Amino acid sequence: MMNWLKVIILSFICIRVSADALQLQQHWQTPLLTQGKPPIHLPTLETSLEPKSCATCHTTQFQDWSKSLHSHAMGPGIIGQLVDMPATATKQHQACIRCHAPLQEQAVSLVTSLLELSTDQNLHEQGLICAACHMRKYQWYGPPHRNGQPSEITKFPHNGWQSSSIFQSAKFCSICHQFKPEEYALNGKLLENTYEEWEASRYPKEGKTCQTCHMPNRRHLWRGIHDPDMVKQGITIKNIDFTKSDNIITAKLSIKNTGTGHYFPTYVTPRVIIEGYQEDKNGQVLSSTKQQMIIGRKVTMNLTKELADTRLAPDEQIIFNYNAKYHPKTVSFALNIQVEPDAFYTKFYQITLKSAKKGKKLLQKALEQSQQSTFSIYFKRNILKR
Ligand code: HEC
Ligand code: HEC
Ligand code: HEC
Ligand code: HEC
Ligand code: HEC
Repeated sequence: MMNWLKVIILSFICIRVSADALQLQQHWQTPLLTQGKPPIHLPTLETSLEPKSCATCHTTQFQDWSKSLHSHAMGPGIIGQLVDMPATATKQHQACIRCHAPLQEQAVSLVTSLLELSTDQNLHEQGLICAACHMRKYQWYGPPHRNGQPSEITKFPHNGWQSSSIFQSAKFCSICHQFKPEEYALNGKLLENTYEEWEASRYPKEGKTCQTCHMPNRRHLWRGIHDPDMVKQGITIKNIDFTKSDNIITAKLSIKNTGTGHYFPTYVTPRVIIEGYQEDKNGQVLSSTKQQMIIGRKVTMNLTKELADTRLAPDEQIIFNYNAKYHPKTVSFALNIQVEPDAFYTKFYQITLKSAKKGKKLLQKALEQSQQSTFSIYFKRNILKR
């Protein structure tokens, strides 16, 4: 019945989908083309690629972005590696900056600074800047207006902007958060697989995109594994059992991925440690009583082998079982969940530092930062004796 109508509707949907795919491909071609010459009729404030210029009018986006990791995407850990690459090896630079500082103008400022020609060119140091997502050839692009209007180029300011639905799609994020099928995989799983993990979950069916969770109400927050509140929102922790008999302590803790739109965690770099231990009267951990379980995808430092993958798929649950002899010195028993967002990098920097030349100081700083990002999301102490 009404087959012709189905055909028309279907082909309309197909054209729409492939138009979006094409737009996305053009928007994110690698390497990106230069913006070209700024339109002469616009004031310099409006044609500047500097995030602080956008901030004049888009204050909230700027404030949010400044606190996000996108603005720190060119930290000491990556610049420390770039300074030891040949200054004009732009292809080699691209392999990193296509995600960390993708504008062509940033590629140029990187080369300028590596050649030590100028120190006031620092567009690359500002990481994933507003213009990298929103500007191509001095045209501004953004999601459809909140009120559905205006959808076409309006004249004021910065010549208006082009409304594009790709900004509302999870594919937009996949450009840097999903490896292509032919890119690096270990044990049959791509090293970066966030989009696919999301696609296989219930979230697309519920209409929840990356933006829904990471840019609520279009805010430019991008909070993730480095943010304790965000991590707590993504999982449910339940202390389901604790018993102490004369000589045995047992405890059960369940952790379920109830609100993370992909694996918890999605990357190989973080590590989550669930641990139970007994403490003496001074609160000292009695190390022989310590038992641990790790959530994460453990790979070797040279990325040639996957050693373990205990990440939680969306809606998956694990139970940590503690079972140990009651130590004669025990006064209290504690359960703790520790998040190390940069566990891989800590080891990686320690190794890279050995061969670093110009990058030594920066990598030293990156190492310290990676060690400081650790936090606890759950802690419970049971006093057994007074
Ligand atoms: C002189 C002020 C000014 C400056 C500077 C400016 N903008 Fe805008 N921009 C505006 C105004 C006003 C609008 C229209 C807002 C509206 O209609 O709700 C707009 C619209 C936008 C939109 C579309 C919003 C939507 O609803 O989709 C984007 C994206 C955008 N600007 C990005 C930028 C970026 C990135 C920069 C810096 C490179 C920048 N703007 C610099 C004033 C400015
Ligand atoms: C041009 C590449 C690029 C695009 C597009 C991009 N990201 Fe990112 N994103 C990065 C890079 C690079 C980092 C890591 C920054 C750092 O720590 O050095 C990052 C970090 C993040 C983090 C923080 C991760 C953490 O460890 O806490 C979240 C969350 C995130 N992005 C979500 C998104 C979402 C959602 C979108 C789509 C709206 C998106 N990103 C689009 C490159 C990109
Ligand atoms: C496909 C996009 C992509 C490419 C290409 C890429 N990265 Fe990243 N990088 C990311 C994302 C996303 C993160 C954040 C997630 C994480 O912590 O693993 C990140 C995190 C990092 C971090 C840790 C956070 C920080 O800023 O200190 C370093 C260091 C880093 N990348 C260096 C590099 C280097 C060096 C290259 C080139 C050899 C490179 N990256 C290529 C996407 C990319
Ligand atoms: C990683 C890419 C990325 C970066 C970097 C980025 N944005 Fe956005 N921006 C987006 C996406 C995606 C949306 C649409 C979110 C949605 O529809 O849920 C958006 C929406 C907007 C809007 C429309 C907001 C609204 O309420 O309608 C403005 C204005 C804007 N961005 C300005 C900026 C400014 C200014 C900066 C830098 C301080 C910036 N953006 C950095 C991806 C980015
Ligand atoms: C239902 C909400 C939800 C959706 C949908 C979602 N995320 Fe997340 N995301 C989270 C939570 C919660 C965390 C913090 C816990 C964690 O790191 O796994 C997180 C963490 C991250 C991180 C930090 C790195 C890491 O190892 O975990 C990145 C990067 C990220 N998300 C990107 C994305 C991208 C890209 C998409 C879309 C393909 C997406 N997220 C969809 C909730 C969501």
